[in-house]
Amino acid sequence: MKIGIEKISFHVPHLYVDMHDLAISRNEDPGKYKIGIGQDEMAVAPLTQDPVSLAANAALNIVTDEDREKIDFVMFATETGIDQSKAAAVYVHRLVGIKKEARSIELKHACYSGTASLQLAKGHIALNPDSKVLIVASDIARYGLNTPGEVTQGAGAVAMIVSSDPKVLELEDESTFVTKDIMDFWRPNYSEYAYVDGKFSNEMYIELFNDVWGQYKEKTGGTLDDFKALCFHLPYTKMGLKALRTILDEADESTKERLLENYTKSTLYSRRVGNVYSASLYLSLVSLLENADLEENGKLGLFSYGSGAVGEFFTARLVPGYKKHLLPETHDKLFNARKQISVPEYEAIFVQSLPKDGSTLELDVEEDPNKVCLAGIKEHQRQYVIK
Ligand code: HMG
Repeated sequence: MKIGIEKISFHVPHLYVDMHDLAISRNEDPGKYKIGIGQDEMAVAPLTQDPVSLAANAALNIVTDEDREKIDFVMFATETGIDQSKAAAVYVHRLVGIKKEARSIELKHACYSGTASLQLAKGHIALNPDSKVLIVASDIARYGLNTPGEVTQGAGAVAMIVSSDPKVLELEDESTFVTKDIMDFWRPNYSEYAYVDGKFSNEMYIELFNDVWGQYKEKTGGTLDDFKALCFHLPYTKMGLKALRTILDEADESTKERLLENYTKSTLYSRRVGNVYSASLYLSLVSLLENADLEENGKLGLFSYGSGAVGEFFTARLVPGYKKHLLPETHDKLFNARKQISVPEYEAIFVQSLPKDGSTLELDVEEDPNKVCLAGIKEHQRQYVIK
């Protein structure tokens, strides 16, 4: 049986900051942000867009009534949880109109939980070939104003339908993984912001990539030349390149050129959004599929990294006709409709927060062009609207 991604789309907030402006206001050379880090724009989520609304907006791009009849599992991957108990998946289940005969759960492992969801979905479909799984990976990355991590913030969500009729990508069974208990990036319950050991996190990303790539070669006898493209978790777009460069010498010249060219295509969307944690690898996948010219049946390798840390390398094949099932126009429209804001406007949004004492807040959703918005908070409960 084939199992894989039938549909895939993403959603980002309607506001962004240009990285040139941010660099100037932080007394940095714009070259550092745009070339050294590799980011052009950073998505900014106002209070009316939280992880749930971003995820629901992404899912609404792909879920049809036919899917609603078959989806019996909603998985919500995030590290921007809004509740210690209630799963964010339950809100998405309602907002997207999934039938009641479904499981809904939230998964956490830093940026790895999108991949954990995909692998769990694969198992679910193997046991229930007539059903479908809706995966949403949604995050808002926050390090704080004037911090080294600020340039790697972002916000957005990816939605995927996994089924036994994969029209985009068929998942293969070749997968290698590793867990290592480290403190490279974490966010204690009491903190709004992530704590990060930036340099160490970069080293660990590369170390775990080399570990799972080594395991993959040993397990399968595969080589880099087998791959049309490699896709990476992108905390910032230079990161995957640093990892890729550590193994490029294993490839012949034409493979090197192909992998580098396709790597660049996989980073186009992330350059305009920033880190979306659990969704980052999948935003890079959509960018690759929509911008590169890849052969049908071509093999892709995907590297997922979640701080703390877990790394996984897995492979997939492009399904013949996959281009017809992508949504480049939707995504183009989404990017083109965004509004650029100044650094002071971004800073003003950044410091806003929802009440934590049970008081009521009504938000102005008229200003927000997105279909699903957070309209406020009442009695400690988030109020969502579908426009
Ligand atoms: P930094 O220390 O400010 O930057 O922080 P830097 O001094 O290392 O410079 C960055 C690059 O810009 C360097 O290039 C410079 O040479 C270059 P590199 O040596 O890295 O190739 N540069 C310039 N280039 C062109 N023109 C110039 C110029 N000036 C300098 N004028 C850091 C960078 C990434 C550490 C920081 O932003 C940070 O801490 N970010 C957050 C942590 C992070 O993203 N870690 C990535 C790996 S961990 C991960 O992926 C997991 C994560 O997604 C979380 C999760 O799993 O949930 C984060």
